[in-house]
Amino acid sequence: MRFTLTDARPRETPCDLLALPVAEPGTLDGEAAAVDSALGGRLSQAAQEDGFTGKRGKTVLLHTPEMPFRRVLLVGLGRDRTTEGLRRYAAVAVRRARDVRASRVALVTREAPAGPDGGPPQGERLRAVVEGAGLGGYRFTRYRPPEDPHDVETVIVCADRGEREDLSHALEAAEVYVEATCRARDLVNEPPNVLTPAALAEAAREVAVRGGLQCRVIDLEEARAMGMGLFAAVASGSAEPGKIVVLDYRPEPATAAPRTVALIGKGVTFDSGGLDIKPASGMRTMKGDMAGAAAVIAAMGALRPLNVRARVVGIAAAAENMVSGRAYRPGDIIRGLGGKTVEITNTDAEGRLLLADAIAYAVQMGAGEIIDLATLTGACVVALGNFTAGIMGNDQSLIDRLLEAARQAGEQVWPLPLYEEFLEAMRGEISDLKNAAGREAGAERAAAFLREFAGTTPWAHLDIAGPAFCEDKHAPPYLAPGGTGYGVRTLLRYLESLR
Ligand code: BES
Ligand code: MN
Ligand code: ZN
Repeated sequence: MRFTLTDARPRETPCDLLALPVAEPGTLDGEAAAVDSALGGRLSQAAQEDGFTGKRGKTVLLHTPEMPFRRVLLVGLGRDRTTEGLRRYAAVAVRRARDVRASRVALVTREAPAGPDGGPPQGERLRAVVEGAGLGGYRFTRYRPPEDPHDVETVIVCADRGEREDLSHALEAAEVYVEATCRARDLVNEPPNVLTPAALAEAAREVAVRGGLQCRVIDLEEARAMGMGLFAAVASGSAEPGKIVVLDYRPEPATAAPRTVALIGKGVTFDSGGLDIKPASGMRTMKGDMAGAAAVIAAMGALRPLNVRARVVGIAAAAENMVSGRAYRPGDIIRGLGGKTVEITNTDAEGRLLLADAIAYAVQMGAGEIIDLATLTGACVVALGNFTAGIMGNDQSLIDRLLEAARQAGEQVWPLPLYEEFLEAMRGEISDLKNAAGREAGAERAAAFLREFAGTTPWAHLDIAGPAFCEDKHAPPYLAPGGTGYGVRTLLRYLESLR
C-alpha cells in the first residue's frame, strides 16, 4: 500500500473510491454535503434509504461513474471525537475498498469532527488515518494466498494546504509505525514450529541489518554461564535452544550523554505450561506468547527511520516452555542473574523467570530505565479484557510518560497497583522468591516478582496478555485475527518523545 498526500479537494481527486467519515446522527456536512449536492442529493437519499445514522462502522456505498471519484463511501464514526475514530474510519474504508476491488482510495483528515478545543491537530489526524488504512489492510498470507488477491494500491490522503512539511513528516512517521506494527504481527502469526527461538533471533538479525543496529545473540550455554539460571531453566525442557537477543541502537550524530533505555520482551515462542501443563483451551493461542519480544524487535527496527535521540537496547528473551525429561520441575530452586534464588511453584509461570534474568541483565549493563512488555498473566486479561494492557512499575514518572505515549498512540493501557503485600505473597519458604502464588492479584504479584530484579533502576512493566492477540469479534477494524502488534506504537511514541 502506497500513501500520497494531496491538498486538492477530495471530490476533485481522481480515485476508485472516496471515503468520507460521518458522525452521528448521520447529517452530511462539510465535504460530504458538497459531494451530495454535486450528485444532486443522491448521496443523502442513499443514506436515508439505507437507514444510515452515522453509527460507528456502518457504511453506505454509492456508484458515481460520472465523477472523478468512481464511488463514494460514507463511514459512520459514531460519537467518537478522537483520532481513534479516524483510525477506525480509515480501516473500514480500506477493507470495503478491497471488497469492491477499488485500487486507488481517497481518504480525508479534515473532516474530523472538532472537539471543544478544536480537536486534534491535522498532523495527528493524518497519522491516525494512515495507521488505520495501513493496519486495516494487513493480512497474513504466507501459508495461503488470499481468495481474492486484489489489494488497495494507493491511498491518497486529502489534507489542508499549509503545514505541508509537517504533514509529509507525519505521513512518513505513520508509515514507519505501520510497517513496524505489521512486522510484529507477522512474527506473532508465524506458527510455533517455524518461529522457534533461533528463528526469532534470525528475524531480529535481519531487523538489525536493515535498521542499522548492532545485534548480539547470546545462546543458551552462554546465558547459563553468565548466570541466567532462570532463563536457562525455562528453556531446558525444549529441544529448541533458547536465545537472548540484544539489539543496540545508537543515535547519529551521537548525542553528548544519551540516556539508555532498555526494552525487554517476553519471547516464549510456545507456552505449553511445562510440567504444569495447560489445558487444550489455554494452549491453543500460545504461539502468541512471544508478542512482547515481537513488539520490541519490530520497534527497534523503526528507531533509525524515526531518528530517535536516545540510546536504546532491545532485549528479547526467547525460549520455548515445553515438557520433557530435561524440563524444569515444580520444586526446583534456581539461582537467577544477580544471585536471587527462586523456587518453582508452577512451571507455567515461566515468563517472569526469563524476564527476571533479562531485567537483571539490563541493570548490569547500566540501563537508565527499563520497559518490559510481556504476555504475562491470564489474570490481567480477566481484569482488563482483550484490548487493554496493565501497567505497573517502580517509577511513577516513567509510568506517567508511558501512559501519555499510549494515549497519543491510541493504545489502551491502565495502571494496576504494586502494594507490598503482593511481594510478600511471592516470598519463598526456603528460597528468596517463589514464581507463583495463589490466584489473587495475579498480574500484580507477577509484577511484584519482576520488580525485585530491577533494583533501583526505573522500570515499567506492560502486561499485554489481553491486547497482544486478537480473537474477539468486537475488535476494532484495524485489527485482524491473530497478532495485533500491540505495544509497538506506544514504545515508538515514547522513544520519539525523548529529545
Ligand atoms: N503466557 C501465559 C499468560 C497468558 C494467558 C497470556 C492468556 C495470554 C493469554 C503465562 O505464561 C501463564 O501461563 N501465566 C499463568 C501464571 C500462573 C501459573 C501463576 C496464568 O496466568 O495462569
Ligand atoms: Mn505460562
Ligand atoms: Zn507464558
